[in-house]
This record gives sequence, structure tokens and C-alpha cells, in this order.
Amino acid sequence: MIPLPPVLRGEGERELVTVGGLRLSNPLLLAPLAGVTIPSIRLFYSRLGAGGVHTEMVSGAGLLRSNRKTAHMLAALPGEAPLILQLFAGDEATLLSGAERALEERPFPALGINMACPMPKVLKKGAGSRLLERPEVAFEMVRSLAALGLPVWPKIRKCPPSFPLSTEAFCEGLLNAGAALVTIHGRTPAARYSGEADRTIVGSCAALFPEKICASGDVYTPEQAAGYLDQGCAAVMLARGALADPFLFPRTLAFLGHDVHNSYRNPSPDFQVQLLLSFGDLICAEEGQKKAVLFLKRLLAGMFKGERGVGALRRDAASHNSWPELRGLLAEWTGYFERRD
Ligand SMILES: Cc1cc2nc3c(=O)[nH]c(=O)nc-3n(C[C@H](O)[C@H](O)[C@H](O)COP(=O)(O)O)c2cc1C
Repeated sequence: MIPLPPVLRGEGERELVTVGGLRLSNPLLLAPLAGVTIPSIRLFYSRLGAGGVHTEMVSGAGLLRSNRKTAHMLAALPGEAPLILQLFAGDEATLLSGAERALEERPFPALGINMACPMPKVLKKGAGSRLLERPEVAFEMVRSLAALGLPVWPKIRKCPPSFPLSTEAFCEGLLNAGAALVTIHGRTPAARYSGEADRTIVGSCAALFPEKICASGDVYTPEQAAGYLDQGCAAVMLARGALADPFLFPRTLAFLGHDVHNSYRNPSPDFQVQLLLSFGDLICAEEGQKKAVLFLKRLLAGMFKGERGVGALRRDAASHNSWPELRGLLAEWTGYFERRD
């Protein structure tokens, strides 16, 4: 694997921050992303400076069935930032038993509950954002997990007026039930991932519940992440923004005043290629080349914006389906961006 310089310098001297009952190096979290936040990808973003990372959402029922795929979702790699397990279930008993089963596998520092997913296959189980319509079940879930003695981090969406409680009242209920941190994604379930995320609702909850709110939604720039923190949020989740530009973590850390190595502050195209090669090698070694190719193509779709020749690089990459082939292509492009002028 290609050695890359560490992102942060002099971090030993920097104070940790308290987020939802955990002591973290910084308040930037890698969001839970189904199909994406597997161990090698979390390790990659941890190396890029994430203060905490999330598993994909893991089914409580799947854990109880000893489903192999679900159990595999509990795996972790040395070097990951503190790893929060995010669970989903349609009822409190399944959620609790699933959490207990998971904790037999690994001592997660905090437990997330997905109350945000708008996808039909999750909704039909009564889970995800369906819980916003069943506040008492949601609060009972928090009470039950909090009794395990770990910080509980539910993640919700903005509640539309037709739902039983406002976003503020729902947050209050979760916090009264014992939640240590509530993440709010400022889109309603019906909006899914389109339209703009509502930053105002996140800000008004952060004002009502200081140090208890984490923000999610439309974080594509360091300024947008810092904006949520300025509103009083304890933490911010990076999601699609970090997939479009993995340097969003180090660039935001630099913006927040951390001592970030210059290669990551202003990454040259050549350095970005080095990072992709190193990352692809890591995913390939841990999860196999199919995942490496898939994820690298995903990153390539967002990186090198505006660089001359990137269209050709993306087109060539699309026709490569093995990691050695894609790696070879990327390696040939090393230096290209510097040589082109
Ligand atoms: C591919 C994908 C998978 C996601 N999976 C999850 C998930 O497992 N659990 C969850 O709470 N949110 C999930 N989300 C939502 C994100 O965590 C985040 O809240 C959302 O993308 C809004 O942030 P953004 O606008 O900055 O992308 C997912 C989003 C995407 C795009």
C-alpha cells in the first residue's frame, strides 16, 4: 500500500471534544451510509480525519436471526475512529435484543437508532422514519437502549406538519427518554434526498437543546459544516459531500483550525491519484476487488472537478472492471495532471 503522510500534525496537544457522551478528536462524523460505510471505507475516512464513524444501518431482526451478512456488518478494523453502531427495527424488543447480540460481538462506544430512513422496505417494517409517526415507540426504544449504559444516538428527519409531533417536540421526547445526542437531517421523509436540507430547523433545535444536536444534510463545503457548528450543533455528519470529495474532512478540519498537512489542504491532482490508489488497495485487501472498483468509480465521479482531461479518465475508468486494471489506469494518470501543461 502506498504510504501517505498523516493528515493531522500536533494532534496530541489538542483537546478532545465531548459529543453525545463520547470524547472525540473532533466533531466531524462520517454518516451512516448503507452500502458504503464498510470497515475499509470507514478506516479510510478515519485516516482522513473523521472524529467518529458509523456502521451502515444494521437490522435488529437480522442480528437475531444470526444472519451472516448482518453479523459481517459488525466487523471493524484497527485504526478506525470511534465506531457507532446504527441499528434499525420496528419494535423495541427486537431493537434491544439485536443491540445485546451485537454487543456480545464487539464493545461499541455508542448505539445509534435509525429513525430517518425513508425507503419503503424499511418503512414497511415500521422502522426508519416510520418511527417519527410512532413517537411512543421511538421513545421506548431510546429508554430501553439507554438502560444498557451506553450513549444512545437516534437519527431523525425533519417532521412535516402532518406528523404527530413537531421536530422540536420529537427531539425533546428523545432527550427526555435518555438520548445523549439527536442527529437531525433537515429533510422530511417524503423529500428523501432531494431539495435543500432545512438548516433552520436544525439550528432552532440546537438552540433549544445545546450540545445535544448533531446536524446532517447538504454538507459539501467546510463553510457549510462550520455553519452547523456555529448554530450550536455538537457535531456534524458528512455524507454525500465526503463521497464526492474525500478531502472534505481534512479541508473542514483545517477550516476549523486543526493543523492539517498541506498535501490534504490543497491536494494536487497527483496527490489525489495517490490517495485513490492507496484507498483502492485497502478496500481490495479487505473486501475484495469488486467493492474496490465500485467505490473508486463512485469517488472518481465527484473528484477532479474542473480538471482538464478528467472526462476521459472517468470514461476509461468506466470500462475497467477489475482492480488491477483500474489501478493500472489510475497509475498511468499519476503525473498526468501535472504534465498536461
Ligand atoms: C447511499 C446512502 C446511504 C445512506 N444510508 C443511511 C443509513 O444507513 N442510515 C442513516 O441514518 N442514514 C443513511 N443515509 C442518510 C445520510 O446519513 C445523511 O443523513 C443524508 O445523506 C443527508 O446528508 P447529505 O445531504 O450531506 O448527504 C444514507 C444516505 C445515502 C446517500
